[in-house]
Amino acid sequence: MALAAATSSNIANIANTENLDTSLNVKRLSPVLGAEVTSFDVAGCTDAQFEQLLTAWDCAHGLLVLRDVHISPAEHIAFARRFGEPAMGTADPHSILGHYWHPEFPAIYRVSNKVINGVPQGREDAGTYWHTDGTHGNTPSRCSLLYGLELPPCGGDTIFASLSTSYEALSDTMKRLLQGLTAVHTLAKTLADGSQNSYAKELVGKADLAAAKTATHPVVRYHARTGHRSLFVNPGFTSHIVGMHSAESKALLEFLFAHTTQQEFLYRHQWRRNDLVIWDNTCTMHYAVSDYKAYGVRYMHRVSVKGETPVAA
Ligand code: SIN
Repeated sequence: MALAAATSSNIANIANTENLDTSLNVKRLSPVLGAEVTSFDVAGCTDAQFEQLLTAWDCAHGLLVLRDVHISPAEHIAFARRFGEPAMGTADPHSILGHYWHPEFPAIYRVSNKVINGVPQGREDAGTYWHTDGTHGNTPSRCSLLYGLELPPCGGDTIFASLSTSYEALSDTMKRLLQGLTAVHTLAKTLADGSQNSYAKELVGKADLAAAKTATHPVVRYHARTGHRSLFVNPGFTSHIVGMHSAESKALLEFLFAHTTQQEFLYRHQWRRNDLVIWDNTCTMHYAVSDYKAYGVRYMHRVSVKGETPVAA
């Protein structure tokens, strides 16, 4: 089924829908965000096919699940390169928890609970809290491509939130209030909150924390491809709103975090082996559910693509 046929009215105004290619095998996964693409030749796709995929991605509010993908690490990186420059483990002096980068392919970050001979094969509990990748940097990641190589028989889902749909659901009065606001994002935020997420646990007492990046971004972000506005705050990294008293900032952020994580704005992805999931960090956030460890191994390869300075909407 073509995605155009499955679009609901809330995405009818997305740019480029008229270019949707009916030859792509696309099926909507939830009313709010996410579409599944089958039989897509990741390693061998043409530029035109890639453009069609991008359009489907935009129509699916920035989340695509490519099924039954068989690619090598080099092909994974080459495909990610179509979206932009991959972030490299070794090239980033601020790289935290650097030993989880793939030893032969520094653009691949390994997310896993797998341990061989006492050596962790990836970072366990990566992203087990609501966040958008890299917002503590000045140029947060454009997108991430996570490839499921080994999966437990159950659990280990990833939940995604559409930050454009939740923005649209706000009242005009709230939209006006948010217009022009900026917020500070920092890796240290989780510690300040007393959160038990894994970044916090692994960073406690480490020099990494002192070097943790901090960035200021618009609270409402413009998406250059779709023309959509989306909220650009997340519980993982957004510490406060600039220019507000701390109680005001706390209340507003708490409202926005509760608002954006309502069930109506979420899609929960149950992984299948060889899924390649691509999410747009401009307009989504995600949460890795850490419930599976008693059931088996989860081993994923992630490539994140560098982004640009967010533009205020
Ligand atoms: C991440 O936040 O990049 C990890 C997501 C996951 O493991 O599901």
